[in-house]
Amino acid sequence: MNARSKCATMTALTGAVAILLGVCIRPALAESPEVARGRYLVTVIGCSDCHTPGGLLGRPDMTRFLGGSDVGFAIPGLGIFVAPNLTPDPATGLGKWTEKEIVTALTTGVRPGGRILAPIMPWSSFAHLTPGDAMAIAAYLKSLPPVVHQVPGPFGPKQVATVPVEAVIPGTLYATLPPPPASASQ
Ligand code: HEC
Repeated sequence: MNARSKCATMTALTGAVAILLGVCIRPALAESPEVARGRYLVTVIGCSDCHTPGGLLGRPDMTRFLGGSDVGFAIPGLGIFVAPNLTPDPATGLGKWTEKEIVTALTTGVRPGGRILAPIMPWSSFAHLTPGDAMAIAAYLKSLPPVVHQVPGPFGPKQVATVPVEAVIPGTLYATLPPPPASASQ
């Protein structure tokens, strides 16, 4: 290899490395400090445990991260509540909510329509978030890739839920339960 072609090879290699670096670094640079803070809080608080499909079955589907659960919480006397889709899909998620509306639901339990969220959604704990941290969570949720998934419910205490449920039952009854339905045991 003569000096010129060596130089051309080096230039090509340097270019390739620069492109690779650009590709790798760009997403990190594109994320604002507020969104990064929101990502951190959502990860540490574990919103995904309840709000990602499969999360309550121990097999979260991370391709549909925070896209809404497939299991309902049966709260004695109150009904059955499925953790909704938190991604910005306008029809099935939080796409039409303002960041302020998300912060209000998160920290006071009040949805835009006025309904108070069931206490299994830990909003009374999230009431202690600083305003900046609550806004950062809302900004991060708005930055997520939208997932199209409408969760069913909420169901009243006497209604039959269309999803498997987690319930508070006596241990003696639990011991007699049949295996979980196929959709919950895959
Ligand atoms: C223990 C399970 C659980 C955890 C953890 C949890 N949620 Fe929820 N969340 C729920 C359930 C269940 C509902 C639905 C309650 C209802 O419909 O009354 C809900 C409702 C919501 C709503 C209202 C959405 C709507 O369409 O009505 C928002 C916003 C929300 N959660 C955000 C979060 C965020 C952000 C986190 C983490 C910081 C989080 N949740 C952690 C279970 C949970």
